[in-house]
Amino acid sequence: MEIFSLKNQWINLLFIIIFTLLSISSKPATLALRSNENDMLALLSLKNQLVGDSHGVLASWNASFHCCQWQGVQCGRRHQRVVSLNMSGLSLAGFISPAIGNLTFLREVDFSHNKLQGSIPREVGHLKRLVYLSLELNHLNGEIPEELSNCSNIQEITVTANNITGEIPVSLGDLKNQISLHLAYNLLIGGIPASLGNISTLKVLSLQHNKLKGTIPSSLGKLSNLEYMYIGINKLSGSIPPVHNFSSLLVLDAAENQLSGNLPPDIGCTCPNLEAIFIGLNQLTGEIPRSISNISSLELFDIALNGFTGSVPENMET
Ligand SMILES: *[C@@H]1O[C@H](CO)[C@@H](O)[C@H](O)[C@H]1NC(C)=O
Ligand SMILES: *[C@@H]1O[C@H](CO)[C@@H](O)[C@H](O)[C@H]1NC(C)=O
Ligand SMILES: *[C@@H]1O[C@H](CO)[C@@H](O)[C@H](O)[C@H]1NC(C)=O
Ligand SMILES: *[C@@H]1O[C@H](CO)[C@@H](O)[C@H](O)[C@H]1NC(C)=O
Ligand SMILES: *[C@@H]1O[C@H](CO)[C@@H](O)[C@H](O)[C@H]1NC(C)=O
Ligand SMILES: *[C@@H]1O[C@H](CO)[C@@H](O)[C@H](O)[C@H]1NC(C)=O
Ligand SMILES: *[C@@H]1O[C@H](CO)[C@@H](O)[C@H](O)[C@H]1NC(C)=O
Ligand SMILES: *[C@@H]1O[C@H](CO)[C@@H](O)[C@H](O)[C@H]1NC(C)=O
Repeated sequence: MEIFSLKNQWINLLFIIIFTLLSISSKPATLALRSNENDMLALLSLKNQLVGDSHGVLASWNASFHCCQWQGVQCGRRHQRVVSLNMSGLSLAGFISPAIGNLTFLREVDFSHNKLQGSIPREVGHLKRLVYLSLELNHLNGEIPEELSNCSNIQEITVTANNITGEIPVSLGDLKNQISLHLAYNLLIGGIPASLGNISTLKVLSLQHNKLKGTIPSSLGKLSNLEYMYIGINKLSGSIPPVHNFSSLLVLDAAENQLSGNLPPDIGCTCPNLEAIFIGLNQLTGEIPRSISNISSLELFDIALNGFTGSVPENMET
């Protein structure tokens, strides 16, 4: 009797285990298949808007193979969803389809070094898992979509060398995981948003060669992890704001603007690790702060074509 009921219990338990396993595995399996099919449809929409496939990469995006095997496409091993799209350097022209926003598992998008036209679709804002976005060296125009600020995991945004217009969205300051923001060589107008000073993780801020106006926001002085600050060749005015601790800063390039006033006297103490300072072609005045001679790492110091008076600090003349 005892043994019989024990055996029954074991059989019951076995059934429970089998049922649980079946219900866990079967439902998500069909769901995953359907989601993956949506990924494939989104990729085909992207393909539809691209032209000039001289490398034959898009030709591989065909029904003979699963979309995870298409060239430039990478899927996650477990869920078989598209996590990376690398179309870099393929001479592709055409447009980036808004369907990109349907590839919701994307972590990496690299469309750099192509001939893409049109604007950056707002739908990139749907890509919550996006970590890396590069659209460098294309012919994109239009504005930076404000919706980009929805990609809260993004670490690197590179839109360098396009024809992007409009202002830098204030909302980019909400992206608290950013390490580098490259918007150089575009047609950006307006000011540098003070909100960028909120991105405490930022190491590279590259805004040179645009049409940015206004003063350098003092909030940027809070970026204590900043290593490279490129804001040269714009129309920035006002003085260089004081900084408290820029101990990570290696390169400051603010050349060819309309900056005026004195250099912060304590620049040598607040930026002790600078390797290069480019502030030529501005309207800076006053004396060159003596503290600069304390930056032992300094190798390049270009202050040509300003209104500085006095002499170069003694121990710098080497
Ligand atoms: C993108 O997703 C939406 C909503 O699920 C759907 O209506 C649309 O057809 C999809 N577009 C593409 C190109 O996959
Ligand atoms: C489909 O893609 C494969 C490579 O993935 C290629 O060998 C084949 O020629 C393609 N088929 C067509 C019809 O383009
Ligand atoms: C994309 O591919 C190119 C070479 O084809 C490579 O240099 C680049 O690093 C890749 N991008 C990413 C994000 O891995
Ligand atoms: C961005 O996020 C907001 C709030 O979470 C949401 O309402 C909006 O639809 C999102 N936009 C995009 C393009 O994903
Ligand atoms: C930007 O637009 C101008 C004028 O249409 C064009 O000459 C130039 O090649 C474009 N630059 C890029 C990077 O697309
Ligand atoms: C971001 O920066 C702006 C301007 O410096 C400031 O007003 C705002 O409070 C900051 N927000 C957060 C969340 O730090
Ligand atoms: C400056 O910031 C660095 C970290 O970014 C820190 O290690 C250092 O102690 C700070 N120095 C001062 C004087 O606050
Ligand atoms: C340079 O550094 C030394 C030692 O830290 C300090 O005593 C001196 O005041 C500094 N000179 C200037 C001009 O900041």
